Amino acid sequence: MYNFMKSTAPLTAIFLILVLVSCDSIQSDETVSSETPAKEIISEPHPGENLFMAYCYSCHNNTPDKESRIAPPIFAIQQRYLKEYPEKEKFVEAIIAFTSNPNEENALMREAIQKFGVMPQMSYAKEDLQHLADYIFEGKFTHPLDETQKGNGERLEPKQRGNFVSKATKANLGQNLMAAIKNKGTEGAVSFCNVHALSITDSMRQEMGVESIERVSDKARNPKNKASVEEVEYINTFKQQLEKGEEFSPVLNDLGEAMVYYSPIVTNKLCGQCHGTADEIKPKVKARISTLYPEDQAKGYSENQIRGMWKIVMAKN
Ligand code: HEC
Ligand code: HEC
Repeated sequence: MYNFMKSTAPLTAIFLILVLVSCDSIQSDETVSSETPAKEIISEPHPGENLFMAYCYSCHNNTPDKESRIAPPIFAIQQRYLKEYPEKEKFVEAIIAFTSNPNEENALMREAIQKFGVMPQMSYAKEDLQHLADYIFEGKFTHPLDETQKGNGERLEPKQRGNFVSKATKANLGQNLMAAIKNKGTEGAVSFCNVHALSITDSMRQEMGVESIERVSDKARNPKNKASVEEVEYINTFKQQLEKGEEFSPVLNDLGEAMVYYSPIVTNKLCGQCHGTADEIKPKVKARISTLYPEDQAKGYSENQIRGMWKIVMAKN
């Protein structure tokens, strides 16, 4: 869809904003598995898998659409590094060296650098890097065009899987939102969200192999996203947790055939452009919103408030 990453500067900018869009979930819902009974664990997930989803997947995802790539898919990176470093120890060393200090000298993928620019510098905990590099060596990644590659994160137990799916979808939506704001301005981005928000979450549903991915709210913009009475209760609980400074505890309910997972969506600075207070939203943007959403309720938010929830339905295997 987008092919706007020609040099590192815009990539870095996008990345920073992406972190803005994504940071709350990276910080808040990392610890979700402790109270889950052991029988639900299908097989032990690699400790680097969650880290990879949180920090790397938004750029190194497996989108089959070449035009919309902003970095090489992880499959390609693994192949290239295996060719150069067939032994695990050297492989891991090289991934850590590059990730902690990306530059042209220690890079192997010249073509990718030409196409996307050098990967932006970010800092990670040493231990996390070790897990990440180990996972990139051990992980079973598939070619992006491999149609059988469905159901990302299927091996995770349901709460972790819900966490993983919501995070990946958030990164994808955030990336698309930023690109739309950059290319079309905030007003144009409202129309973009109107046309594409639901189709993006739907394509993530297919990619992640879950039954549905939705965002629901007690004060919805699109009436399709209106939370049910029961869901509003969960939203209120998340609001209380936020107020008390407690860690969020995502909800996991058994629906019989399937499980449903809910986790909070928290606002940051960026959201104010379209969900903020009356004087924060520019008149043109406001006008566009009222044309498209005559029943809009999703205004008046400030930073760090509960805007709604992720709702992920997963079939039981
Ligand atoms: C903001 C987007 C972005 C994120 C996030 C990102 N990368 Fe990258 N990465 C790139 C781009 C673009 C390239 C290709 C250009 C290059 O090689 O520098 C790349 C290339 C790489 C390469 C191959 C480097 C080479 O050329 O030899 C490795 C290894 C890598 N990334 C690891 C990671 C890991 C691990 C993470 C998560 C901790 C991560 N990346 C997160 C954008 C990103
Ligand atoms: C460019 C304007 C724009 C920005 C910026 C924006 N949104 Fe939205 N948001 C929309 C539009 C338009 C919709 C309705 C999408 C639809 O029709 O499905 C929406 C819908 C939502 C929904 C689904 C529930 C509902 O109200 O329909 C959530 C949740 C949401 N936004 C959260 C956020 C968060 C969190 C941020 C900041 C990270 C954000 N939005 C930033 C325009 C925006």
